[in-house]
Amino acid sequence: MRIDRRRWVLAAASIPLAGAGRAHAQAAAVVPPALPVERLAAERLGESADAQPLRKAVPSSGELLPVVGLGTARRYDEPSPVLRETLGRFAAAGGSVVDTAPSYGNAEAVVGELVEAAGLRERLFVATKVGAEGRQAGRTQIEQSFRRLRTTPIDLIAVHNLRDVDTQLKTLRALKDDGRIRYVGITTSFDSQYADFERVMRSERLDFIQVDYALDNRTAGERILPLAHERGMAAMINLPFGRGRLFRAVQGKALPEWAADIGCTSWAQLFLKYIVSHEAVVCAIPGTAKPEHALDNAAAARGAMPDAAERRRMERFVDAL
Ligand SMILES: NC(=O)c1ccc[n+]([C@@H]2O[C@H](COP(=O)([O-])OP(=O)(O)OC[C@H]3O[C@@H](n4cnc5c(N)ncnc54)[C@H](OP(=O)(O)O)[C@@H]3O)[C@@H](O)[C@H]2O)c1
Repeated sequence: MRIDRRRWVLAAASIPLAGAGRAHAQAAAVVPPALPVERLAAERLGESADAQPLRKAVPSSGELLPVVGLGTARRYDEPSPVLRETLGRFAAAGGSVVDTAPSYGNAEAVVGELVEAAGLRERLFVATKVGAEGRQAGRTQIEQSFRRLRTTPIDLIAVHNLRDVDTQLKTLRALKDDGRIRYVGITTSFDSQYADFERVMRSERLDFIQVDYALDNRTAGERILPLAHERGMAAMINLPFGRGRLFRAVQGKALPEWAADIGCTSWAQLFLKYIVSHEAVVCAIPGTAKPEHALDNAAAARGAMPDAAERRRMERFVDAL
């Protein structure tokens, strides 16, 4: 029995989920631009345009977020047609959380321009970070993020890799009190920061934590994710594919037969379903600059989710590669 999924579905109350049928997200690389994005995304997913992805609640507010988001760490350098299509398909497939940062080259400005041009702001949850030393440098960087992202409020600003975390959290709290940001958090993707990360999690009230976690990188699952659950903090997962490492590990291999039992038609879906089925995880933010990958990833928010035994089987499979 998939108790976890049942609980999420109850939490999501009236939100319709994809039916028992499998999601068909293997999209072709070239897509005729004439097709309306909504319809195209639905066709790729083998569903009606009304089908909604699985959502989970942010503990501090109860707000429901789709469990698969979008990372923009690389190749968001200019607002190209491919990036416009990537973001459009992502949103049309029901995606919402878009993660960026001032340190990702031009990504904040590109996201801001594309979101505004496509009229998508109302549908997206825009998350960025502050990574600066000192109060004034942090405030200057944050003001730049407001300009680049072309939006107030920004949904989430997190302290990037704990940089000057005590100072920057004070600034973020003031911004939240003023209604200019909606949520506050911290991020890391380094094991060497986990002890400090836990210290901050224990001493601060945070809406979100963002940490690296993947089927072949499960350290955060030992202490950080359970602590997030205990402290009522939404866990957002970066590096869900280990920057592509997982794809390289399974290159040339066929999906195992049991992948179909958990509604997976691609490796990306299998890797993501492992992550988003963790009870503390609210969403994963796979990075992609390709429309077909955005759709593939979006399909991981649909259909059956692995239970505890199936998660163990996924771990054994990857450990044996
Ligand atoms: N400390 C921090 O705060 C921190 C650290 C690292 C990352 N992050 C955030 O987390 C996000 C995710 O991390 P990441 O982008 O570095 O790594 P990732 O999501 O683990 O992997 C991205 C790689 O997977 C490929 N990919 C994506 N979807 C795919 C699919 N369906 N099929 C095959 N390949 C696929 C991408 O290539 P294509 O572009 O070709 O699809 C890219 O090479 C970042 O974008 C960033 O927003 C935050």
